[in-house]
Amino acid sequence: MQIIVCKDYEEMSRRAAGLAAACIRQQPKALVSFPGGDTPLGMVHEFADMVNRDEVDISRARYVSLDEWVGLSDKDEGACGLFNRTELLGRLKKPFGDVHIINGAAADIESERASLDEYIAAHGPLTVSVLGIGMNGHLGFNEDGVDFDLNAHIIPLSDTTKQVMSKYFGEKFHPEYGISQGIRQIMAAKTVILIANGAHKADIIQQAVRGEVSPHVPASVLQNHPNCYVVVDEAAAAKL
Ligand code: GLP
Repeated sequence: MQIIVCKDYEEMSRRAAGLAAACIRQQPKALVSFPGGDTPLGMVHEFADMVNRDEVDISRARYVSLDEWVGLSDKDEGACGLFNRTELLGRLKKPFGDVHIINGAAADIESERASLDEYIAAHGPLTVSVLGIGMNGHLGFNEDGVDFDLNAHIIPLSDTTKQVMSKYFGEKFHPEYGISQGIRQIMAAKTVILIANGAHKADIIQQAVRGEVSPHVPASVLQNHPNCYVVVDEAAAAKL
């Protein structure tokens, strides 16, 4: 793991966007995945600005979403797909060559899961996977206790995630499951960039980076990735 401690959220966002852009410059037919949540907002804005300034050409690259709340489509407040469309894809003056966004509201969620696997199998492995980290160490919706051998899967949300999730959509939705790329697909990415900011992430970052590799802290698996960057602000790095 290469740990990059940034002075603040803005620097974390810029560094992560710059690293992702560098991966695409090296492999223009890239398969790219960014997370949802609060953490990546600055990073995806920075990345879109880089594309719009012609600093990185994504016309031959493909974008695939990491995860989604089961029951939410890309039109629902708090959905990862809405975040992708509004904060990233909608800002791009020159779009990705192709985009695959998970529909968590699909009537047949199993075929939605299968099509995520098929997309990654056809166009992968991922060139660059940017990830946030949940308060329990989840990556995407690979919740604590997850099987590291899984590809895309549907998984019950942990109690921790259920406690945190109202920050995205209040009491409007009560999802019970997530749909997510699996750890196998994340670990197959050529480059992984884990981002985190804020004092509330300091404990879990410490466990993920310095603790034992265990499904109880899914992000700890990244210690075994050959090319993983951990880009954190000083507050999230406080216990490293
Ligand atoms: C969410 C998403 C993850 C995200 C994580 C952290 O529930 N499933 O993809 O990385 O939890 O979210 P935040 O950045 O809002 O702390």
